[in-house]
Amino acid sequence: MIRVLFVCLGNICRSPTAHGVFVHLVEQAGLSGQIGVDSAGTSSWHKGAEPDGRSIAEASRLGYDLSFIRSRQVLTSDFQEFDYVLAMDESNLGDLLDICPPEYRHKVQLFLSFSDVSEREVPDPYYGGAQGFTEVLSLVEKGGASLLEHITDHDRSKLQ
Ligand code: 4NP
Repeated sequence: MIRVLFVCLGNICRSPTAHGVFVHLVEQAGLSGQIGVDSAGTSSWHKGAEPDGRSIAEASRLGYDLSFIRSRQVLTSDFQEFDYVLAMDESNLGDLLDICPPEYRHKVQLFLSFSDVSEREVPDPYYGGAQGFTEVLSLVEKGGASLLEHITDHDRSKLQ
């Protein structure tokens, strides 16, 4: 089993989008029993909340369900339990590395580092308009497909 944790600031926009899209990709690939998916925020600001309505709407427009996700904050134990702890932007990456036990630092990476898109970060859409949410969805679809390819190539022995 491989476990993937997507992380952003609030766990209501970007990381739940990545969570819902990646669950869908994993199901499509027939790997639901072998790849576990979750998401969390570096902050506890929205603890227990559903994803932002704008993220839900954009995901649903493209056929992805985010309704089962509730916001939670990253826990120190997540670094032990997950194989990939993937930050949406550099600020999330820095915050994660600040609290990550040294032996697990290799698990903490930028989500888009697995993809060949020119962007390094999934930009925070929270204070912007609808276009930001469309951009998040598009980057997450590309990043998710590349991540799944990476896992099926590199972690084959653990996918059972
Ligand atoms: P997220 O977006 O990190 O993608 O979930 C944000 C959500 C909430 C806030 C900032 C970013 N906020 O300031 O409450």
